[in-house]
Amino acid sequence: MAETLVVAEGLGRVYPGAVPTVALEGVSFQFDAGEFAAIVGRSGSGKSTLLNMLGLLDTPTHGSLMLGGRDVSRIGSSERAALRNELIGFVFQYHHLLPEFSVRENVAMPALIAGRRLDADLTKRVDETLDVLGLSGLGGKGANDLSGGQKQRVAIARALMNRPPLVLADEPTGNLDTESTDAVYDLFRTVNREWGTSFLIVTHDQEIASMTDRIFEIADGKLSQDVRNEFARPTRSPSGDPARP
Ligand SMILES: Nc1ncnc2c1ncn2[C@@H]1O[C@H](COP(=O)(O)OP(=O)(O)O)[C@@H](O)[C@H]1O
Ligand SMILES: [Mg+2]
Repeated sequence: MAETLVVAEGLGRVYPGAVPTVALEGVSFQFDAGEFAAIVGRSGSGKSTLLNMLGLLDTPTHGSLMLGGRDVSRIGSSERAALRNELIGFVFQYHHLLPEFSVRENVAMPALIAGRRLDADLTKRVDETLDVLGLSGLGGKGANDLSGGQKQRVAIARALMNRPPLVLADEPTGNLDTESTDAVYDLFRTVNREWGTSFLIVTHDQEIASMTDRIFEIADGKLSQDVRNEFARPTRSPSGDPARP
């Protein structure tokens, strides 16, 4: 039996205001270690709200959420930050790299901010992570000297530095061309297969969704579908071979 990573029960988020916004309502599901899933739904349906709660960036106003066996529904901000650091890797639509720093420094940035030095150990860890993402040898380059697709791969490397069991990606290919989109998808799949990392990927790209093993659909803040995708194809092209790291 796979370990259960996420248990959401009646999860909800209401944004207060003169007219409160019910962004998420009654969302219940379980998600296991090693799963590879997409979250789809119209703009404004509540996908980012859900991801932000799963990623401990935001707190639910209703229901309960267990992450890695811990009840995180109502924990305080320092515990939240520590657990996020341990359990979650985030990939966003925009890479948020710091242009004046090297690739290596960008990947190490969360650790540097936490007060670590870029010593031999940390450098080794960064370079191993860059290797897995097919970015060997780019560590010394300036973040600005990379293509859009490479920048997003560096952002993925940064998200994987702590080897989190769960990666949450919010429209990670929304800003990329088809070729770079496929490269990102292949990387996610490879990391999922090689390390057993779980992925929840918010996407507008139907083809990408169709290549995942499970598809969640959010409509008007509710979980409207949760289907196993038995027809998941490994790559976009039927004959294609997934890129190896
Ligand atoms: N910080 C916020 N304050 C108030 N309303 C918000 C906030 N963030 C999102 N919303 C509203 O919550 C709903 C869901 O938004 P969101 O989760 O961003 O949707 P999606 O990611 O699917 O496009 C929308 O109606 C949006 O306007
Ligand atoms: Mg969104």
